[in-house]
Amino acid sequence: MSTTRGLEGVVATTSSVSSIIDDVLTYQGYNIDDLAENASFEEVIYLLWNGRLPNKSELEELTADLAENMAVPDEIFDYMKAYSIEDIHPMAAVRTAISQLGLYDSEADEMSEEANKRKAVRLQAKIPAIVTGFSRIRKGQKQVAPKKDLSFAANFLYMLNGEEPDEISETAFNKALVLHADHELNASTFTARVCVATLSDIYSGVTAAIGALKGPLHGGANERVMSMLSDIGEVDNVEPYIRRTLDNKEKIMGFGHRVYKQGDPRAKHLREMSRRLTDITGETKWYDMSIKIEEMVTGEKKLPPNVDFYSASVYHSLGLDHDLFTPIFAVSRMSGWLAHILEQYNDNRLIRPRADYVGPGKQDYIPLENR
Ligand code: ACO
Repeated sequence: MSTTRGLEGVVATTSSVSSIIDDVLTYQGYNIDDLAENASFEEVIYLLWNGRLPNKSELEELTADLAENMAVPDEIFDYMKAYSIEDIHPMAAVRTAISQLGLYDSEADEMSEEANKRKAVRLQAKIPAIVTGFSRIRKGQKQVAPKKDLSFAANFLYMLNGEEPDEISETAFNKALVLHADHELNASTFTARVCVATLSDIYSGVTAAIGALKGPLHGGANERVMSMLSDIGEVDNVEPYIRRTLDNKEKIMGFGHRVYKQGDPRAKHLREMSRRLTDITGETKWYDMSIKIEEMVTGEKKLPPNVDFYSASVYHSLGLDHDLFTPIFAVSRMSGWLAHILEQYNDNRLIRPRADYVGPGKQDYIPLENR
């Protein structure tokens, strides 16, 4: 048997949700550049789940449906209060809470298409309250209930901070949500599809996906980019820091990609957002450092930045806690996971590859006392 390490280049399914062709990313045929400039995150959710953009009344219906379903059972917050919340990474808390949500959904194991679509709305609607609720509880603050008249992006920031965001923050956050929403067969989406291809339930699928997103080689990279920037501290320190890291053959977080070779099309949007936002906050050093790191890593290693690199300074400039960066990625990617899960259910076959065995040859069992 021949093996392909990390399944590189292996085409494991057909999908009409999103595509990466010649380094161009599209959601259902719409170029990400176009969507990032023009679309609300709610429109993108509809697009990913339905294969087309919504008209006005369809968008209003989805928005109302999401608003209706945003509340999370108190028991989930009680549970958060019961464990040692200061020591828990928010991704672990979100993974657990999303799994717990299934316990409070009487339709959790109902597998009809209609029930799965209803659950998709519930999951997408509730994940902001889980992330923001965790964040507030660990700071000793009360959770903030969502407002029905706010956009998805504004509601998240409102529930997190207890005050409505200004227009610049809302627009920037909406764009970040749009850019992270889906990405073909990335590791977490593949994980979700493998899980539900056993005909397991949708809650299991997204819980598994959150576990995969958490890792530093995937969504966990954005938080690590910010700790690298914090460690570097000043623009003048970039050169020796990056040189040392490259000489030690360590990875620079936020660079490289399995699929893109010329560059991640999402990065340029986040780079520009980083420039603008750091200009507004007056902390331009985060952008300046990022630019210098990009010049060095791209120049020397030919590795372009990925979506996680500039999202770090964008989120920092929006005043978000660094360990919430990856949970925020999950809030957005929930939309893509759900689209892929619904697509998988629609034309399912168990995903079960093979392994090329390289372990020991034939062994004879030795009784315990003789070992
Ligand atoms: N810094 C330095 N060197 C790198 C980096 C990096 N960020 N990424 C890849 N390389 C080097 C590797 O060391 C390897 O070099 P070698 O051939 O001399 O051993 C070569 O490039 C190929 O790298 P792989 O890790 O084999 O590439 P793979 O396709 O398996 O991994 C990945 C892709 C995981 C994204 C990788 O580039 C990486 O670890 N990047 C840093 C983490 C990161 O930013 N992850 C977020 C990705 S985007 C997302 O998931 C949302």
